Order: sequence, then structure tokens, then C-alpha cells
Amino acid sequence: MNLFQAFIVAFGLVVGCVSYEHSPSNATHPWSERIDFPLIPVAVSMIPQTGDLVIWSAYKNESFGVDASGVTQTAIYNLTNGTVAHYSVDHTEHDMFCPGISLDFKGRIIVSGGDTEEKTSIFDGESWKPAADMKIPRGYQASTTITDGRIFTIGGSFSGGIGGKDGEIYDLEADEWTLLPGCSAEPMLTKDAGGLYRSDNHAWLFAWSNGSVLQAGPSPRMHWFDTRGNGSMTFAGTRANDSDAMTGMAVIIATSNAHLITVRKPGEPVNVEALDNMHSARAFANAVILPDGKVFIVGGQSHPIVFTDENASMIPEMWDPKTKKFTELPELPTPRNYHSSALLLPNATVFVGGGGLCPWKCDANHLDAHIYTPPYLFESDGVTPATRPIISHVANPILKVGQTINVTLSKPVESNQKLTFSMVRMASSTHTVNTDQRRVNVSPQAATSTLFTLGLPRDPGVLLPGYWHLFAMLNGVPSEAETILVEPPLA
Ligand SMILES: *[C@@H]1O[C@H](CO)[C@@H](O)[C@H](O)[C@H]1NC(C)=O
Ligand SMILES: *[C@@H]1O[C@H](CO)[C@@H](O)[C@H](O)[C@H]1NC(C)=O
Ligand SMILES: *[C@@H]1O[C@H](CO)[C@@H](O)[C@H](O)[C@H]1NC(C)=O
Ligand SMILES: *[C@@H]1O[C@H](CO)[C@@H](O)[C@H](O)[C@H]1NC(C)=O
Ligand SMILES: *[C@@H]1O[C@H](CO)[C@@H](O)[C@H](O)[C@H]1NC(C)=O
Ligand SMILES: *[C@@H]1O[C@H](CO)[C@@H](O)[C@H](O)[C@H]1NC(C)=O
Ligand SMILES: *[C@@H]1O[C@H](CO)[C@@H](O)[C@H](O)[C@H]1NC(C)=O
Ligand SMILES: *[C@@H]1O[C@H](CO)[C@@H](O)[C@H](O)[C@H]1NC(C)=O
Ligand SMILES: *[C@@H]1O[C@H](CO)[C@@H](O)[C@H](O)[C@H]1NC(C)=O
Ligand SMILES: *[C@@H]1O[C@H](CO)[C@@H](O)[C@H](O)[C@H]1NC(C)=O
Repeated sequence: MNLFQAFIVAFGLVVGCVSYEHSPSNATHPWSERIDFPLIPVAVSMIPQTGDLVIWSAYKNESFGVDASGVTQTAIYNLTNGTVAHYSVDHTEHDMFCPGISLDFKGRIIVSGGDTEEKTSIFDGESWKPAADMKIPRGYQASTTITDGRIFTIGGSFSGGIGGKDGEIYDLEADEWTLLPGCSAEPMLTKDAGGLYRSDNHAWLFAWSNGSVLQAGPSPRMHWFDTRGNGSMTFAGTRANDSDAMTGMAVIIATSNAHLITVRKPGEPVNVEALDNMHSARAFANAVILPDGKVFIVGGQSHPIVFTDENASMIPEMWDPKTKKFTELPELPTPRNYHSSALLLPNATVFVGGGGLCPWKCDANHLDAHIYTPPYLFESDGVTPATRPIISHVANPILKVGQTINVTLSKPVESNQKLTFSMVRMASSTHTVNTDQRRVNVSPQAATSTLFTLGLPRDPGVLLPGYWHLFAMLNGVPSEAETILVEPPLA
């Protein structure tokens, strides 16, 4: 039950409409037609309340600048009808390029810092709202929602001055950021050639039990942050060749090296197991956890050079948690390097878009995305769409951590079919960081031939409250997701 894997690996203007009348994808060409956007999808998030995507670039559609114009070019992509609407957001006075992004318990998208380095903006499902400034201005920091519903952030010397980017925490109800002097950014610094400006960027943060946060990278030294009181931190081990790891939290990093990290109790050292290398070395790649627990790794370059598609890793890979092996997949139609994004969609496909945002006109700018259809959605002939199970009803789609959920399928399960369920938390992606995504297995107990009761994990550090996608899988073929709102447990 507690097996848990998460990867550490305005004014509207309709500008485009995607025609779905193209040749269908298949297992050897699993990519949709190109979907054009008015801007580069540098950042993307699910909008839990509507099931659509919000996408943004910077103060311009296809380039960025540091003149802190306080504007962000955004788009809403309606996944149901394929419409893309462009919005220029200026009333939050926040250029949301290079920010921290976290989805909270109510599905609000909290965007902090970036080019307007002290600002916070919140997308509440309908519109952007201004929120309190951070105490420390930041860009390229990471943030994560924690078990008490607050948002923790650390690092981010890319904007707002260099160094001293210790932790702070945001309370939405009070609309207030508070410094956590006990959570220092110093111990997690990398030895980046760019110096401190770069070395506290993009921390791999993962919320865990009792308000704790594991920093699992990018530095090989890992740490536990305790966000209570003034904050504190504990060394959690190095990400190297340690002991045998079981299921738990898993990590893919931005090179060809991969590790599986097992997390048990906050404050305790974590176990690390080195995995086989990926087939391709990658920097600036994205990793997306799928409903079946496999991890889709897409894009990136063998040599990390910003604003070029040279040396792009065009062959995505799938990591299988059962075999712990990486398998190569059909080639990407478009390179997806620096400033690309990837996100699991409710129909168990993956949005893969963006790249570029060069300060000058350049070939590496990609104002588009493709939808990747994983192998599980095809029959063994690789062409026929797989028959998907259908969740016809969820009795209680709003529930608390630790409760049970009743799910009705449209058809009885046959004796040769294996039924499994998983929940994947709705997520956001920018600059290879996605601290929102995580997956839990939930095992079914049959009440009737079509009604199943699922027991959910009891620890909000595992089943982090907020919006989740629930998938039923028959012999590994996922249903479309049902939206589940997980509320915090009763105190
Ligand atoms: C798979 O899709 C590609 C691209 O649409 C097409 O060229 C190819 O013929 C398809 N393969 C099969 C076996 O249908
Ligand atoms: C961004 O794209 C939209 C839609 O094409 C356009 O209306 C707008 O003028 C562009 N904004 C900038 C700053 O280029
Ligand atoms: C598609 O959805 C958008 C809102 O996301 C709406 O404005 C538009 O009218 C819809 N178009 C169609 C053809 O239904
Ligand atoms: C999944 O959703 C995307 C976005 O709406 C759509 O383009 C794609 O065709 C869908 N794929 C399947 C297999 O349902
Ligand atoms: C998206 O499009 C669908 C179909 O046209 C529509 O029912 C829905 O309201 C749209 N979503 C939003 C948020 O407008
Ligand atoms: C936090 O630090 C301040 C200043 O050092 C101190 O006054 C306060 O007691 C501390 N609070 C806690 C909960 O430790
Ligand atoms: C890493 O682990 C493998 C397998 O346990 C072992 O053979 C190898 O010597 C270890 N390498 C280091 C550097 O400890
Ligand atoms: C969380 O804190 C409670 C109360 O201090 C403790 O009983 C429990 O063991 C902690 N959980 C974990 C996973 O550390
Ligand atoms: C691409 O990789 C080769 C080595 O494989 C290197 O010599 C070359 O400089 C790289 N190109 C760029 C633009 O990084
Ligand atoms: C779930 O199903 C069980 C078994 O039929 C039933 O006892 C329980 O009341 C149901 N719970 C909800 C919330 O529907």
C-alpha cells in the first residue's frame, strides 16, 4: 500500500485550434501532429479545476530578458477541444520566467520568483492573482508543497542577487512568506563552474512525512529539511553506490547516471542504488512518471549548451521499475532541450513541448508541442488502439488521506484480466523540475464484479493532499483518469 515512487528523476484571444483529423499515431510513430502555440511552452501545469493546461514563457512569447517588465505571456490549452487562447498577464507585475512552481492542496498553482524575482502569483483555476512577495528574491529556485499545506522554497541565485538563498515558507491563508534560517542553502551547493550564481539552482525537493522535505539533488550530498519552527536540516547521505534500495522514492538525474533512492523516515539517511546508465546522456531532459509506474524520459542534450539543438538526444527512453532497465523508444519529431517541458495528461499520454527562448532569433525556438502516446495504448500489433478500461463512477471523488474510495468500472473484470489502480498527482513542469509529480499504487478490493474499494495511504507525506489523477489498469492498459481531490487528514 505504501509503495511509493516519485521522480526526483485577463483578456483572451483565441489564436489556434488543433485539428484532430490527422493520421493516428502508432507504436512506431507515437507522436501526434505538431500542436502550435503562440509562445514557447517553457512552463506548463495542469489546471486541476478544469482539466486543461496553463502554459507560459516569459515577458515575450519567444525570448526573455532581465528588464523585469512584470509581464508574462501565457496560454490556456483546452485539452477537450484543442483550442489555444493567448493571455498577456500584467496585473500581478510578475515575469514568471524561471520560477518555482507548486500545486497546493486546493489545486492552486503557486508561482514564485523568476525574472521578477520577489513576486508571487497564484492561478486559482480561472485567473492569476497577485500574492505576497518572498522575503528573499529568487530565480531558478525550486519549491514544494509540504504536508501542512504550506509551500517551501530554497536556492535561486540566478535572479535577485547571489548567495544566501536560505529556505522560506509560504502560508497561503495568511498570504505570508516566513524565513527558515535553520534551512541553509549552503550545504546543498553544487560545484558548478558558473559559481554560486548557478550552484543553488533547481534543487530536487520532495515533500515527505511530518512537514519534511528531502533535497535529493542536484548535488550528490542529500539533505532533509525540517520546516517546523525556524527550520532545521540533517545530512541524508550521498547519492552514490550505497546499499540495496527497495521501492520508495526513485530518482533519475540529468546525465546518463540514474539512481533509485529509497526514503523511509524523515531525518534518517536514505538508501541509494545506482542503476544502469541511460542509453543517452542527457542534460535539460524531462522525466514523467506514467500510471503504470514506468518513467518516460524525453529530450535533452549530450552536451549541455543552452539555445542550441546540437547534440540533442532524440531517442526517448522508458525506465521500468520491475526490471530497472531503460528501453529506447521511437525518435522525437522535434528536439526538446533547454526550456522544454513535459507533463502527464489525464488520458495517460504525455505533453512534450517547448525548447529555446533564445535571447536572439534562433532555430532552437520551438513554439509547439507533441503528444506522446505510450506503448500501453496500443495492442500488440502496434497499430490498433488498446481497449481501455472505463471508470464509470467514483462514489466519493473528494476524500481525505487514509480514507477508502469506491470506483465502479463499466464492465466486469474477466478472469484473464489483471486489474490494478494507481494515483498520480497533478503536476507542473519547467526547467526539468517537477516537484509535484508522484505516484502511488492503490490495491483494489472487489465489492461486486464492477465495484471496487481502494484503500489510500494514511500518510500525507506519501499521499500529498491536492488533486490527483486516478487510473484503472487492465493488464497494464490505463483508463482515462478520474479527478480525485485528496484533502488533508483530520487532525
Ligand atoms: C505509423 O504511423 C506513421 C506516421 O503516421 C505511418 O507513416 C506508418 O505507416 C504507421 N505504421 C503503421 C504500421 O501503420
Ligand atoms: C504574443 O503572441 C500573441 C498571440 O500571437 C500576440 O497577440 C502578442 O502580441 C504577442 N506578444 C508579444 C509580446 O510578442
Ligand atoms: C473550446 O473551449 C474554449 C475554452 O477553453 C471555448 O472558448 C471555445 O468556444 C471552445 N470551442 C469549441 C469549438 O467548443
Ligand atoms: C489525449 O489527449 C490529447 C490532448 O487532448 C489528444 O491530443 C490525444 O489525441 C489524446 N490521446 C488519446 C489516446 O486519447
Ligand atoms: C474546453 O472545451 C470543452 C469542449 O468545447 C468545453 O466544454 C469546456 O468548457 C472548455 N473548458 C473551459 C475551461 O472553458
Ligand atoms: C526562531 O528564531 C528566533 C530568532 O533567533 C527566536 O527568537 C525564536 O524563538 C525561534 N523560534 C523557534 C520556534 O525556535
Ligand atoms: C558499486 O556497486 C557494485 C555492485 O554492488 C559493486 O560491484 C561496485 O564495486 C560498487 N562500486 C563502488 C565504487 O563502490
Ligand atoms: C510523524 O510525527 C509523529 C508525531 O511526532 C510520529 O509519531 C510519527 O512517527 C512521525 N512519522 C514519521 C514517518 O516520521
Ligand atoms: C557536440 O558533441 C561533440 C562531441 O560529441 C562536441 O565536439 C561538440 O562541440 C558538441 N557540439 C556542441 C554545440 O556542443
Ligand atoms: C463503498 O462501498 C462499500 C461496499 O459496497 C460500502 O459499504 C461503502 O458505504 C461505500 N462507500 C462510499 C463512500 O460509497
